[in-house]
Amino acid sequence: MKLVNFNAAHSGVTITEDMQRAAAEANALLHNGKGAGNDFLGWVNLPSSITNSELSEIKRIADNLRAKAEVVVCIGIGGSYLGAKAVLEAMSNSFESLKKRHNNPTIVFAGENISEDYTYELMDALKEYSIAAIVISKSGTTTEPAIAFRLLKAEIESRYGKAEAAERIVAITDKARGALKTLATQEGYPTFVIEDNVGGRYSVLSPVGLLPLAVAGVDVEAFVEGALDMERLTSEATPIEQNPAAQYAIVRNELYKAGKKIEILGSYEPKLQYIAEWWKQLYGESEGKDLKGIFPASVTLTADLHSMGQYIQEGERTLFETIISVKNSKHEVRVEADEANLDGLNFLTGKRLSEINKMAELGVRLAHIDGGVPNLTIEIERIDERTIGQLLYFFEKGCGISGYMLGVNPFNQPGVEAYKKNMFALLDKPGYEEESKAIKARL
Ligand code: PA5
Repeated sequence: MKLVNFNAAHSGVTITEDMQRAAAEANALLHNGKGAGNDFLGWVNLPSSITNSELSEIKRIADNLRAKAEVVVCIGIGGSYLGAKAVLEAMSNSFESLKKRHNNPTIVFAGENISEDYTYELMDALKEYSIAAIVISKSGTTTEPAIAFRLLKAEIESRYGKAEAAERIVAITDKARGALKTLATQEGYPTFVIEDNVGGRYSVLSPVGLLPLAVAGVDVEAFVEGALDMERLTSEATPIEQNPAAQYAIVRNELYKAGKKIEILGSYEPKLQYIAEWWKQLYGESEGKDLKGIFPASVTLTADLHSMGQYIQEGERTLFETIISVKNSKHEVRVEADEANLDGLNFLTGKRLSEINKMAELGVRLAHIDGGVPNLTIEIERIDERTIGQLLYFFEKGCGISGYMLGVNPFNQPGVEAYKKNMFALLDKPGYEEESKAIKARL
């Protein structure tokens, strides 16, 4: 079986032995725990450390929710929701909502915003369905999911009573600390633990990602298997030049040093759009600190060629592009002949859309290279659980190595706190009296 393959032939970077050595040292830090943020390295071995009994327990609880609810609301923000959302979108039929028959519960997300309209419309829509909730917060104190959970908890309790609510609500949180842990213990919710050494954005291969995916009917075993393929391939045992995550880290750091400050992750498959959202959090939060870091952006092609294509081709030359290239589609659709041929496209008659899409990809790659945008390619055989597992672990490992090569701690996010302090001060949270006065004077 072919694994996710990284290709930097069009990056313009010539990889030297010194660069390989630096990447090997960065990779070693992830394995020997001697780098910054070394108390957050639990993700490195998540695929190989998850046991059959842990997977069985995830599937048992998932089956329980599947049996009870038509709609399962997954509550969380940042690393506590993006991984599940990304894999779910990638694995789902793009038009699931139009299908009359649903074999799996519908998963919807809440707690990743505080929009009143979003929340109202969600609660309103839920009235027509039997429901359950998975609430995910490592700290157990994050405001956005806590607000959403209050509403969902009240709704579930008022519909089904407290005892049944404890069968329909599952908590995923810290093993000992935080308001959610306290509540889950008090109410008797089934609970999964986010280990102390696994940060939110690196948690998709823990119950944080696996439980919602299992509820949605995704083959979580194949997903973990895929990640394990990549854990092995990117381990210290593999020569660094054969480690695709290390090669990716080297090339993006070299491009950054050469003034390419923005990396655009693109793909020609719309169902990978949320993989890019997940990737943006992973790289943005891991590397954007100490006044450094590549700004991660994303496009979905060919759609965005008609919006961002102009800028990429001819705007500021601070960009490089990384394309997730999917080799095989799942289905076959061919262009129809048309007698009138008014659009002049009869020359495409009988061609598969995947072939046309591939030519678009190759044509765009060459045009962008000609326009001064280096191009990196991550090739995957197809979109399935195993390959997506490989891809996500590839990005995680690439991020850890890249962050260390950049000289930052890729596992903290001190900058995320600044907005919270201001928001609490503006909302008059007890304990924020001084900040409240100061901030209101600035308005
Ligand atoms: O990557 C991270 O650590 C963050 O994005 C968190 O996942 C996010 O802030 C949510 O935190 P919590 O799970 O504690 O509610």
